[in-house]
Amino acid sequence: MTGFYSFLADGKGFWMPPQASDFAENVDALFYFILWLSVLVFVVLMALTGFWAWKYKESPTNRRSSPISHNFQLEFMWSAIPTVLFVVIFAWGFRDFTALSATPADALQLRIVGQRWNWSISYPKLDRECTSVALANGDNVVDFYLPVNRPFTVQMSSTDVLHSFWIPAFRVKRDVLPNRYTGFTVTPTRVGTYPVYCAEYCGTSHSNMKAFVTVLSEEDWEKDFVQTDKCKLDPKSPDYKPKLFAKYGCNACHGVNPEQGIIVGPNLYGIGTRGIGQTTAGPVTTDDDYLRESIEYPEKKIVAGFSGKNMPSYKGRLSEDELAALIDYIKSLQ
Ligand code: CUA
Repeated sequence: MTGFYSFLADGKGFWMPPQASDFAENVDALFYFILWLSVLVFVVLMALTGFWAWKYKESPTNRRSSPISHNFQLEFMWSAIPTVLFVVIFAWGFRDFTALSATPADALQLRIVGQRWNWSISYPKLDRECTSVALANGDNVVDFYLPVNRPFTVQMSSTDVLHSFWIPAFRVKRDVLPNRYTGFTVTPTRVGTYPVYCAEYCGTSHSNMKAFVTVLSEEDWEKDFVQTDKCKLDPKSPDYKPKLFAKYGCNACHGVNPEQGIIVGPNLYGIGTRGIGQTTAGPVTTDDDYLRESIEYPEKKIVAGFSGKNMPSYKGRLSEDELAALIDYIKSLQ
């Protein structure tokens, strides 16, 4: 992953990222058709308006006491031509839109879960789950991988509010809803790394809800993804715990050092040494039991001064080992 905006430089167009999927060309073609049509209509209209304003300007020699009130041919034309153009645009868009829903049998399947404020992307058939990586600035960035020239289909849902999964280079964007599955099918056509955004305002850290998709060649896909689990966190690695903290999106809301202050929820720095903390349910001892309870049932004992409405329950989402590692990590912040 090189510079965040390097994809702009690789793009062919003036304002478009590169066309990295089979769908991108369709979208760009329709975009440019509408753009140039609008330019044409604007220029012709403005030129005629200016010309006629000049030509028919009222003057002693140019009086219009009985202006024309109807002209059937003219009126028919200005209704019929735009109607035809709109139908063409609709049919064109509809054809492309339906292509996004056609899923070939061999398509790679992905599950995408949006939550405030990160994505979790998994491959049910490959038993892979791609996770967040904590960056120095505390952003959540999920890396995930796809093979080139092979269609993939996504099934998306949200654990909380509306999000929107958007890969500009693929020209696909779909809302992610808490109560309904949405999805699309598209084929990446260009090897490279492309940014993914959340395109639906979903709260404080909406702008940090980012991901990167890397499109691999068929060979690299086999070697680097199918054979080796790029996405798996290694419990033996020294940065396993902070990565786990990021994987579950904890870092989107909780600062881990005094400099980060309060992002959304309480800053966790020093919580293990604090001893007694004030909560909505009275004073609590900030021990392992309290931390565990707060991860699984965040609404039970909310730290004084916070609403607690932003945090989802993590009950059943972490393995026993992961829970223990997270609690260890939180206690180690001092
Ligand atoms: Cu999720 Cu904006």
